[in-house]
Amino acid sequence: MRDSIDVLISEEQIQQKVTEIGEAISRDFAGQSVHLLGILRGSYVFMADLARKIDLPTTVDFIALSSYGEDTKSSGVVKLEIDLGISIHNRNVIIVEDIIDSGLTLSYLTRNLATRNPTSLKICTLLSKPSRRKVDIDVDYEGFEIPDEFVVGYGLDYAQQYRNLPFVGVVKDTGISE
Ligand code: IMP
Ligand code: MG
Repeated sequence: MRDSIDVLISEEQIQQKVTEIGEAISRDFAGQSVHLLGILRGSYVFMADLARKIDLPTTVDFIALSSYGEDTKSSGVVKLEIDLGISIHNRNVIIVEDIIDSGLTLSYLTRNLATRNPTSLKICTLLSKPSRRKVDIDVDYEGFEIPDEFVVGYGLDYAQQYRNLPFVGVVKDTGISE
């Protein structure tokens, strides 16, 4: 049976915000190139849309990390599943993330990437749940701050489902308690 999903952020709101972020990146890095580094799997939809709103020489790569199993709570353990395909040395790296929750994933990743000598390292996230933060993260580009609810769609999953929804929504009846 499909869970029922309430729309939290509409497709139109997302597309408007992605356009704004793409324009901001294009302004901030005018005259330079950028290297988008998406965190699989949740960022793939945002990454694809964002890349097409950036008016600069742009390269893309992906890294796979996991801190979640088939549950809705962070295990607190971040595992590097697939490493960089392209060296980030001398590149303006923009990490592209779907959502920042505890911040543990990005805290691990930024420390790891900083040792690989990028020219610059920025963080771009579509969503953020500030009330859930366990470690401070400096976010350079942020789409929407959302309340402490488990969301799906536009790349985000619940047990690998719902990534293909064009909007961000809240799943009802999953028995999520926090
Ligand atoms: P953090 O390490 O706790 O910041 O977790 C970040 C990762 O947890 C994200 O990249 C998502 O994969 C996952 N995540 C956190 N909150 C949600 C949510 O509400 N829906 C789906 N995935 C989430
Ligand atoms: Mg993720």
